[in-house]
Amino acid sequence: MLAFNDILEDARAQIELAADLAALDRVRVAFLGKKGVVTELMKKMAELTPAERPAYGQTVNDLKSAIQEQLQIQEEALQAEALSKTLAAQRLDVSLPGRGLGLGSLHPLTQTRESIENFFRGLGFDIVDGPEIEDEYHNFDALNIPAHHPARASHDTFYLENGFLLRTHTSPVQIRYMKTHPLPLRMIAPGRVYRCDNDMTHTPMFHQVEGLLIDDHSTFADLKGLLQLFLEDFFGQALVLRLRPSYFPFTEPSAEVDIQCVKCKGQGCRICSQSGWLEILGCGMVHPQVLMNLGIDSEKFSGFAFGMGIDRLTMLRYEIPDLRALFENDLRFLKQF
Ligand code: FA5
Ligand code: MG
Repeated sequence: MLAFNDILEDARAQIELAADLAALDRVRVAFLGKKGVVTELMKKMAELTPAERPAYGQTVNDLKSAIQEQLQIQEEALQAEALSKTLAAQRLDVSLPGRGLGLGSLHPLTQTRESIENFFRGLGFDIVDGPEIEDEYHNFDALNIPAHHPARASHDTFYLENGFLLRTHTSPVQIRYMKTHPLPLRMIAPGRVYRCDNDMTHTPMFHQVEGLLIDDHSTFADLKGLLQLFLEDFFGQALVLRLRPSYFPFTEPSAEVDIQCVKCKGQGCRICSQSGWLEILGCGMVHPQVLMNLGIDSEKFSGFAFGMGIDRLTMLRYEIPDLRALFENDLRFLKQF
């Protein structure tokens, strides 16, 4: 029996020395494994007489349980130690400053479009969309620009097959909207337009926003007042407006609107090419022929329309010298907005 106590003491000593779980497992195998010390003792049972077996078996089993218990205690201790080591190594300093999310920002053109939409939405205007691939009827004919009309040539149109084209302005949305909505009405239609044109101040794709109001009492003075309110809201300052007589086939009378240069206040600078004025938009009273094309009684109803370049407004608002910067998606440029 002394031998059994020695074995247990030996096991205890080795278990205590095991510095990690792998070492502990080696001890387990040495004592309880297939060829372990205790297993070998069990095998000796066969050599004993039946009378000797129960006592012997009991003793070996007790030894085995005692070793198992020691192994279990040491294993739990080692696991706890490993866990606290991991926790110490992965410790979080919750007081460290955050890494920053690197949020993006809206493109300057989107910011311009949204502030235009917000202004007109506040006055009860619908914000509507139209197709960028148009037909000649909506882009030209219905707007009083028949096939032979010289204004067609000035639009530098990208023609597609079967009478389709890339819309050259947002004015066709006027037609689509008047066809489908009861009077009186008011809407704006922002979107992309296309012209075969490319230099510092012209790009083949640019953005316009169309405005249209039809009722039985609106006047040119209402148009002027509305544009003055909008432009002062947009540029965030009092502005002097100048209306120059102009020509569009779908409005009569027509005007182009200039504002006194937001940069030099009319003194003359690079932005306004020394003129003191900036051309902002085209507008006018809707031509009676356009109303008649849609079956609207032009004796009873009248209204006004305007069309402005969103890109142009953005350049002026942020003092961007080259229109093309808006379309190059250079992050160094875009991050400034
Ligand atoms: C028109 O397109 C008319 N449909 C506007 C209109 C609507 C008049 C309703 C009357 C009633 P215009 O071609 O002038 O007009 O263009 C209007 C604005 O679009 C210009 O003032 C300018 O700001 C902008 N624009 C025109 N061409 C370009 C271009 N290639 N690149 C950037 N902006 C342009
Ligand atoms: Mg023009």
